[in-house]
Amino acid sequence: MDKFVVRGGAPLHGPLPVGGSKNTALPLMAAALLADGTTTLTNVPNLRDVLTFSNVLRVSGPAVTFEPEAHRLTIDASGVNHPVAPYELVKKMRASFYMLGALIGRCGKAKVSLPGGCAWGPRPVDLHIEGMKAFGASIDLEEGYVIASTPNGRLDGGTFRMEPSSVGATINLLLGAVTARGGSRIENAAQEPDVVAFGEALQHMGAQIDGLGTRTIEVQGVDALEPVTFANTPDRIELGTFMIWAAIAGPPGTPVRIPGGNHKHLGEAFKTYFEATGAGVTYTDDLVTVTPPEHLTPVSIETGTYPGFPTDLQAQWTVLLACADGTGTVTDTVYDDRFKHIPELQRLGIDATVNGNTATVHGGGAIKGAKVMSTDLRASVSLVMAASVAEGRTDVLRVYHLDRGYEQLEEKLQAAGLSIERATYDEFETPETLADPA
Ligand code: EPZ
Repeated sequence: MDKFVVRGGAPLHGPLPVGGSKNTALPLMAAALLADGTTTLTNVPNLRDVLTFSNVLRVSGPAVTFEPEAHRLTIDASGVNHPVAPYELVKKMRASFYMLGALIGRCGKAKVSLPGGCAWGPRPVDLHIEGMKAFGASIDLEEGYVIASTPNGRLDGGTFRMEPSSVGATINLLLGAVTARGGSRIENAAQEPDVVAFGEALQHMGAQIDGLGTRTIEVQGVDALEPVTFANTPDRIELGTFMIWAAIAGPPGTPVRIPGGNHKHLGEAFKTYFEATGAGVTYTDDLVTVTPPEHLTPVSIETGTYPGFPTDLQAQWTVLLACADGTGTVTDTVYDDRFKHIPELQRLGIDATVNGNTATVHGGGAIKGAKVMSTDLRASVSLVMAASVAEGRTDVLRVYHLDRGYEQLEEKLQAAGLSIERATYDEFETPETLADPA
């Protein structure tokens, strides 16, 4: 099993380059299934989730080729002859559930495993299923699988209002609706940039969609979509992660460059909160420059759907509060219990407590290295961030969680000045194998 060994205190001078978006690449891969031919996606990050989803796609028939160095993925979906997404693969990555919409949209039927549990949650899929029914699908649940069928092989179309607004359900319903017999309307739809870029790719493929980026999306079904070449967007969560990292670990007064991102995808809430910490920041089309302040102001945040503060950045913000002078809070209104990182941060000496869906952090205390355990993707990166500003050595265990969503993180951080190494370890130590029982 892999871990990161981090020795804190080294200044983060940068640059920190931003890669392709995980949460846009995955729906783009599902969209490729809708077209009879070869779709090419560029700026696709070399991540475990991309490899996992490639295998999920292959089960249904397509030939999928990924060139990790070129960050290029080609999907030949001329043969989709097995509309199934098996549990053994779906359980590894929740976004595999996009196969429901993709297979209904292409084949008019689907047998897709329910995603199962997550490190935090519950993360239901009721909106995905109720929406498909509203669009005309018949849905049965058998042995942990969603069995979907459609009248004469196509959805009819329909209207569905989702509550709460769901990124995944919006994506799944669009995948089905674009080839429906009639028109469809999604109300309270997700507005995230990931969804907008995915919808624009569908438009390039011939889909008739209006209202992307608003709460109401209208679709007029078409008979078939065409394969395309499409560029994936930069990862907005990696951009936000690196901006926070620069603010806490960069040398005060020295600009840290973060190239390759699209700051417009962060949403105004994050940018407003970030500037209120006292960090200096300038934006150009493909470069964000952060100038760390002498002292960080503890700004309390509340997450929300786009353009609100992204829930995927709340764990990282907790570490910023730990480095700030004073007390701040992080409230997650999207998920109720996405705080599995707090007990691990406490092991580093961070004074943080959770009450309901709010974490309270008393910043400014000493952060001291220890062994800590990753539990999910964004929690893991918050542990590495804290380790980078801790006194002494920190071992961050189970970094496979990180490999799901951050490409070559340790290489990027090493090049930017931090002391971080990847090492292997035995997860199941015994009294005999413990190197240092202390
Ligand atoms: C996407 O997950 C992202 N994943 C998540 O990022 C992100 O945290 C989340 O959106 C919110 O922005 C991908 O894009 C692959 P939702 P998703 O459906 O689609 C409730 C990461 O770290 N809900 O928008 O699963 C749900 O419980 C990952 O990259 C229902 O009630 O999120 C939550 O409270 C983690 N019923 C809210 O909606 C449903 O059927 C938002 O969830 C579906 C969702």
